[in-house]
Parts: sequence; structure tokens; C-alpha cells
Amino acid sequence: MNNILVKIRNTIISTIYITVLKPILFTFDPEKIHDLFIIVGGVIGSNPITRALNALSFGYSNKKLEQKILGIKFRNPVGLAAGFDKDAKMIKAIKSTGFGYTEIGSITGEPCEGNPKPRLWRLEKSKGLIVYYGLKNEGSEKIAKKLKNKKFNIPVGISIAKTNCKATVTTEAGIADYAKAFKTLHNLGDYFTINISCPNAHGGLPFTDKEKLEKLLKELDKIQTEKPVFLKLAPDLSHKEIDEIIEVSDNHNIKGFICTNLTKDRENEYIKQHLKDADPVSHGGISGKPIRDLSTKIIKYVYKKTKGKYVIIGCGGIFDAKDAYEKIKAGASLLQMITGMIFQGPQTISDINLGLVKLLEKDGFKNISEAVGTDKN
Ligand SMILES: Cc1cc2nc3c(=O)[nH]c(=O)nc-3n(C[C@H](O)[C@H](O)[C@H](O)COP(=O)(O)O)c2cc1C
Repeated sequence: MNNILVKIRNTIISTIYITVLKPILFTFDPEKIHDLFIIVGGVIGSNPITRALNALSFGYSNKKLEQKILGIKFRNPVGLAAGFDKDAKMIKAIKSTGFGYTEIGSITGEPCEGNPKPRLWRLEKSKGLIVYYGLKNEGSEKIAKKLKNKKFNIPVGISIAKTNCKATVTTEAGIADYAKAFKTLHNLGDYFTINISCPNAHGGLPFTDKEKLEKLLKELDKIQTEKPVFLKLAPDLSHKEIDEIIEVSDNHNIKGFICTNLTKDRENEYIKQHLKDADPVSHGGISGKPIRDLSTKIIKYVYKKTKGKYVIIGCGGIFDAKDAYEKIKAGASLLQMITGMIFQGPQTISDINLGLVKLLEKDGFKNISEAVGTDKN
């Protein structure tokens, strides 16, 4: 489909989503709507006809967006971030929805119920979410069985974390749980992410500490995989903490960083300014617009510090092509999103890709990879 037709199609779908669908969806409990979208995604992915119709509604491709990174072919840089398709139920619908790749999970060693409900809230004025799922997922063994012998038409990242329960709070038990998830899943998917930044688990974020991270990565290095491994960082880290994480990563099998996860830091002046809703709860992590610039700053810092040695996936508050391009110019080769899609509709994905092509052309870049890290400020 040519660019003008895609623009017209997206304008129509966006108008329907914003004026009809979203006002209805937003009257229901956010977790129920999330569950509903997973069911719909499963149905869309289940047969070629629904996939083709979905692609007609949301697809877009352009050579300028294609990249080969760490041996993996990405048709465009926009991926579905971890936490939406926790149990790998809708991978087959991802390509036709316009994404270039997906990240399933986070998946933990053992099955995990997550935190008590309610555990998802919308921040309508701030265009963000408060997430307190606490790593709800079916566990590594069940999900590994589901993925075994399956081939997918887009790259699939697997995010792993430690089971959210009292039993994994000690460093040794936590490491054993990450290792179980990694071992169970290590020959599946296309890349791995070690999530050390979930804001909602028992025992906090122990593996941002350099000694504990060293122990964790040493153990995970024993599980041989040729697939690239990323670390997912919190937006609340100080430069000193980031430096230490990079220093530890330099000695282990880490190929990149995902910048960033949700923020937990409600005292951060930037977050305070961008939280326009009365905060419904004081726990949970915040996504969306309120974290956009925090994550871009972290991308820029990591990129400058590591001089392109690591692949960076930029994530947090991407709502349009401008947000996406800022992260690419700051140093991200790939992007991920969830909240923008929830607030604006699934056509946001192809809108971002279409807008990126225009921005690349305006700046004289032939391919998106040429724009990575070009913001020198
Ligand atoms: C409903 C929801 C669940 C999430 N669960 C996870 C998770 O299990 N693992 C993880 O690494 N990140 C999780 N995240 C964080 C996202 O992957 C992403 O880092 C964050 O939402 C920022 O991107 P966004 O502003 O585009 O939503 C979750 C986010 C949302 C909104």
C-alpha cells in the first residue's frame, strides 16, 4: 500500500478508535480490557484470513526501516514491549498488526499469580498507566512447551525475570529462578532480555547492585546460547549505577540494553511535573508520556558511555514518530512500546513507521541505521 493510502487509512481508523472505541473501552477495568485484547490477538493470529484482514488495516512496510542487528532481521524498528503478551498468546498476530518484532514475558522460573487485583490503572490526563501486575505469567515450563517447534514470521524476544514471591528474595534463590527460566527457554525465540528492573516484585530491584548482578550474569553465562542477551534497565538509575551495570556487563554475555522499564520514583521532579492525574495509588510503576524523556536521557547516556558497543532498544512513552526518532537519534537501534498503542489505537504502530520514513528522508538518511546516535547534543 502506498504512503498516501496508509495515511488516509490510519486517519480513519484513528478517528474511529479515539471517538468511538476508546471511550467505551476506557469505561471498563483496564486489566479486563488487556485480557480481552489478548483473546482478540489470539483469534486474529489463528488463521490466514484474519491475519490478512489485520494486515490490510494495520500493515506497512518500507525498505528504509529494515535492519539486520546481531544477526536478526527486523522489518521495522517498532516492537511490542514485554508485559503485553506475557504468556505468548498472540505472537502470530504481531506482524499483521504492523510491529517489527515482539518481546514476550516477562517469564519467571515458576508460574506466578502476580500481585492482588486491582493492579492496572489508567492515567488519562497524563497518558500513562500505573502497572502493578507483579510478573503475572504461566511460568517458564508451560510457555516453553507452547513455543517448542513453532516458527514465527517475526523476531521473538523472551524476557525473563525471577518469580515474584518470598522464596526468591535471597540473592541465591533469585539467581536460581532466573537460571531456571533461562535454561528452560534458552533454545527458543531470537533474543533474550534479563529483566532486572521490574518495580513490582518482592525484594525490590536487587540486581542493579553490581556485586549481585555480577553473580547473576556469571550464573547465566553458564547456559550456552548463541542468541543475543539484553539487560532491561529502570529509568530511575543514577549515572553511577548505570556505569556499574555497564562495567559488569562488559565481562559477560550481554549484547545490549533496553532503556527503559517503568518508573517507580514519584519524587522525581520530572515525573511530578508530568503526572497530571491524581495518582490513584502510591505503589506500582508508571509508563507512557510521563517517562518519555527519562528513558531518552538514559538511552543517550548509555550510547555515549559505550560508544555504540551495545545495541540499545529504546522504550518508554513513544506515541508518535517524533518520540521514536528522538530515541533513535539518541542511540537506540530498535524501539518498543505499549502505552501509546493503548491510548491511540493499533494504527499508531504503522503511523510511527510511516512518520519515521518521512523524518529519515528529510534528514537525507537512506536507512534507519544511519540515524542511530546522530544527536550529538
Ligand atoms: C501492562 C504492562 C505490563 C508490563 N509488564 C512488564 C513485564 O512483565 N516485563 C517488563 O520487562 N516490562 C513490563 N512492562 C514495561 C514495558 O515493557 C515498558 O518498558 C514500559 O511500559 C514503557 O513503555 P510504554 O511507555 O510504551 O508503555 C509492562 C508495561 C505495561 C504497560
